[in-house]
Amino acid sequence: MISRTMANDHNLRIYDSILGLLSDADNPTPLVRLNKVSPFKHTQVFVKLEWYNPFGAVKDRIAANLICDAEERGVIKPGTKLVEATSGNTGLGLAMIGNAKGYKVETTLSQEIPQEKRTVLRFFGANVVEMDDSLCPAPGAPEGAIAKARETAEAEPDTVLLDQYANEANPDSHYRTTGPEIWRQTEGRVTHFVAGLGTCGTITGTGRFLKDQNPEVKVIGVHPEEGHDIPGVRSANQLQQTQLFLPDEYNGTVEVSDREAYDLCLRLNREESIIAGPSSGMALAGAFKTVPDEAGTIVVVIFPDNVFKYASSFQRHFPEFCPTDATGETGETAGPSKNDQFIAEMMENLKNPHDSVRAKTLGETLGEPGAPLIVDVRPADMFAETRLPGSINIPQSELSERFGELPEDRDAPIVMVCGIGKFSKPTTLYLKSLGYRNVRSLKGGINEWVRKGQPTE
Ligand SMILES: Cc1ncc(COP(=O)(O)O)c(C=O)c1O
Repeated sequence: MISRTMANDHNLRIYDSILGLLSDADNPTPLVRLNKVSPFKHTQVFVKLEWYNPFGAVKDRIAANLICDAEERGVIKPGTKLVEATSGNTGLGLAMIGNAKGYKVETTLSQEIPQEKRTVLRFFGANVVEMDDSLCPAPGAPEGAIAKARETAEAEPDTVLLDQYANEANPDSHYRTTGPEIWRQTEGRVTHFVAGLGTCGTITGTGRFLKDQNPEVKVIGVHPEEGHDIPGVRSANQLQQTQLFLPDEYNGTVEVSDREAYDLCLRLNREESIIAGPSSGMALAGAFKTVPDEAGTIVVVIFPDNVFKYASSFQRHFPEFCPTDATGETGETAGPSKNDQFIAEMMENLKNPHDSVRAKTLGETLGEPGAPLIVDVRPADMFAETRLPGSINIPQSELSERFGELPEDRDAPIVMVCGIGKFSKPTTLYLKSLGYRNVRSLKGGINEWVRKGQPTE
């Protein structure tokens, strides 16, 4: 009943404040069955929609618990500044709970984080510090987002790093909420639990609770490939340095490529009408690779957040959905800044047919006289795995020292290549700035090349 001191009522869904909407066993996020994209005949697949948390992602749970725990330990009080390294979602949760409880929030993050997230973080009132770091802040990166957050907390008075990457309050939040919700929603019949791996708080906390109820529950972690483009999660190498990554507590882990993750993300939206984000597609692809198709099998997959923060990511993986080539399409937003205009002109320059080449066009020149020199700017280990025939490898970070290996002739045809076309563009510009006049970037990178059925070595 509405009153000045009313309690939250989950049945009537009326709340004393937005914080009342934080999920727990009495107010679980929805569990939805998949009916179209599942390859299984017997196994039932349920997905847990974490964007039903008040600020749009699974990380709202840990943000709330990191703050509650620190308040209980007397480490913070309203007015304290919270600084945190994030791939976006934890920062969004902390910023909104900070607004509600009186904490200033500063987030350190990678420049590669989708623009949508960085803009909304600022919109929520967070001070955003952008670093040259990988999508999910790289553990142990001296110049990275995590080191920067630690440095700020040490240097500034009344500033605290809650540290989602090492704080037990992270998995504890899932032990207290996500686990009990799944157990109650499946009436204790869940047999497999699958989650993507970032800080590993979700899988470790939820896995512990479910195994405490039934040790037979299988817990499976899903991670992206090296050099991936899926915000919020960590590759196998990065996980090796992740404190909360405890593979002995899981029954297995599996790798999923960007292509698999984004394609399944698309199918979820198109066929199941579920607005899942890229890391949800990744987690589900991992479940399809590992969970057996047997009667009585009930798998629950965590879907951390939804599509609306990833339009710029989709632009890279589904260029066909973003007809920015069609002049006039991008006229909507009024008053781009001078800087945006300059970058747009520069990128437009790169988009004109002379500065980027399509896979099919390049494929037709392979082995022909006058064929371009193909320079692959990805890390050596990725080049070793798969590459264009006859291409040479100069990782982006080594280009400035090794450009001596490029042709003397500044009119020599050169094509720059990377995974999805994100790094080949700036390196094309770099070579242009060195005077190369016939250098282009492979549109869509190796991903598009393989998708178009072109040969690789
Ligand atoms: C979009 C997204 N997916 C997955 C994860 C991984 O969750 P966890 O950090 O609990 O492993 C995160 C974490 O930030 C995320 O933001």
